[in-house]
Amino acid sequence: MTDHPLRLIGVLRAIGILTVLVTIASCPNGRAAAPAQNAMPEVPHDAHSYAVPQSARVTHVSLDLTPDFETHKLSGTATLSITRAPNARQVVLDTRDLTIRRVTDGRGATLTFEVGPAKAFLGSPLTITLPEAGNTLAIEYETAPSAAAVQWLAPVQTAGKKLPFLFTQGEAVLTRSWVPTQDSPGIRQTYGATIRVPSGMRAVMSADHVPPDAGEKDAQGRTAFRFSMTKAIAPYLFALAVGDIAFEPIGKNTGVYAEPSVAGKAASEFAEVDQMMAAAERLFGPYRWGRYDILVLPPSFPYGGMENPTLTFATPTVLAGDRSLVNLVAHELAHSWSGNLVTNATWDDFWLNEGFTTYIEGRIMEELRGRAYADMLRVGGRQDMQAAVREVGGPESPDTRLHLELTGKDPDAAMGGVAYEKGAAFLQTVESIVGRTRLDAFLRDYFDRFAFQPMTSTRLVALMNDKLLQPGEADRIGIQKWIFEPGVPPNAPPVQSEALEAVDAQVATWKNGGATSALQTTKWSTQEWLHFLRALPETVPSARLAELDRAFAFSQSGNSEILFAWLKIAIRNRFQPAFPALEKFLLSQGRLKFIAPLYADLEKTDWGRKIAIEIYRRARPTYHFVSTNTIDQTLKWREGQ
Ligand code: BES
Ligand code: ZN
Repeated sequence: MTDHPLRLIGVLRAIGILTVLVTIASCPNGRAAAPAQNAMPEVPHDAHSYAVPQSARVTHVSLDLTPDFETHKLSGTATLSITRAPNARQVVLDTRDLTIRRVTDGRGATLTFEVGPAKAFLGSPLTITLPEAGNTLAIEYETAPSAAAVQWLAPVQTAGKKLPFLFTQGEAVLTRSWVPTQDSPGIRQTYGATIRVPSGMRAVMSADHVPPDAGEKDAQGRTAFRFSMTKAIAPYLFALAVGDIAFEPIGKNTGVYAEPSVAGKAASEFAEVDQMMAAAERLFGPYRWGRYDILVLPPSFPYGGMENPTLTFATPTVLAGDRSLVNLVAHELAHSWSGNLVTNATWDDFWLNEGFTTYIEGRIMEELRGRAYADMLRVGGRQDMQAAVREVGGPESPDTRLHLELTGKDPDAAMGGVAYEKGAAFLQTVESIVGRTRLDAFLRDYFDRFAFQPMTSTRLVALMNDKLLQPGEADRIGIQKWIFEPGVPPNAPPVQSEALEAVDAQVATWKNGGATSALQTTKWSTQEWLHFLRALPETVPSARLAELDRAFAFSQSGNSEILFAWLKIAIRNRFQPAFPALEKFLLSQGRLKFIAPLYADLEKTDWGRKIAIEIYRRARPTYHFVSTNTIDQTLKWREGQ
């Protein structure tokens, strides 16, 4: 592989490198001397943002916010720094359900602004008329109690039951419901914040803590917590949580935040995080974010994990007690490279975040637990891939493409499982053709060269052709087909696991009438149990399910993944003895990946809708917007049902 300088320049051009912006930024009056035309960096058009970054773009956000746990509002000021093209007269921001009180130039002069009409999931453009000179905008605003990104929890929804809790979830296009900014992943911003919280509570963010950890108290007894993120990040990664939050260190630069009664358990569950970090750095280069902490949220957190920089947000359902689900941490940690350093420029290329991350997750787990274990995960991944393809209508469906066209669609609803596992299978295919050594070198260079920059599928293909592939290899891989066409090409390398094949053999015997007591399960890991449950036939007589439940107590499982797999089987077979466990599971946590399929499966039967609605009526107030948004549709939910 040659590294010809001209070729490099070609690549840099092709990706619209930000030299011009650097020129602007280093010019004292903020204006570039030359070129006068096109003086703003090229960012691919993002159909999910109102911003016009070529004209004026946000570079820094400084928040001063006070949460009100009575009214469920965050209120305060967002002070934005912008760069602007010489002729720019206005800046356009994204907002959603925000009340904008006033906009000034940061020195007291009022600026005129207009909030445009609200569109579904995009929200409203906030257009501010810029002053003649100056690059600061101070926006006084408050959030709506229903802000899509913010969940306000009552004390009963927490482990401690004494204090309320709040957390935000920005990805994909929800940040605009708590921060008025240009909410596009291609428009990176640094940020700082002061968060004023009631006494006894702590604020944490996806940023460095500015000491002292708990700052001064004001007249109302509120404590100020200050934060600073000096690396430019995509705004979907802005994140805040406030509550009765304790800290438990793991390593020198790692630790766990959680409610006090959960922190100890979480720290021991995630004790391997330093080894994961070492493995990731060995493979893909230095971790660039300083600390890596994990915040374990109350059970309504709608995702398994969210890769907020310096502070992964995680569901408590990952705390199995035996470290058997910590590949989730490997996944979120991997985003510190794929996603947070090199970021999908628009949601059309969501797979660049999730597919790369799923591939790397597998590599980290392989370093940590060995090949046989990672292969079990990969087999599960391929099963998930097939299921994801089926779910969107089979291999002909345009939704099975890696590169999507999401204009006019809600990205949060349209970004499905295909991106994860087909994306990972694509990189496994590349690996099978170029070998690990070359792929790893490419990836390391990719994260280094494009750190803090947006990426698109087209750029990736150009880069692979330029920096990785030898003549003929692109065709052998079928890059274009993999990325831009539906279905899964047949050249994905097969994944195999001896351990799981042994499970299959046992399932076969059991299916043919073999006794439950004859199953040899004493050495099974969670992965083997999950494989066993997924391999059971579509229909199983209730008597046999009862046998399994008696022998292995699936309905009582403290492992959320095992319980989930079991409950799916129970619904499929109308196995009523498991229904109390089903109800309890749906009422006790709000992780979308678990609850959405269970409600959908109930709804699909000719008997389950009534049960689903009855549980949902009680559970819905405890779920996050992200979860209710999906399940309302599944169940055709109407208020007052
Ligand atoms: N970034 C995602 C979560 C996400 C995706 C939020 C799309 C909003 C929109 C996160 O990294 C993720 O993939 N989480 C998984 C973890 C799993 C794959 C180990 C989850 O939540 O289940
Ligand atoms: Zn992810």
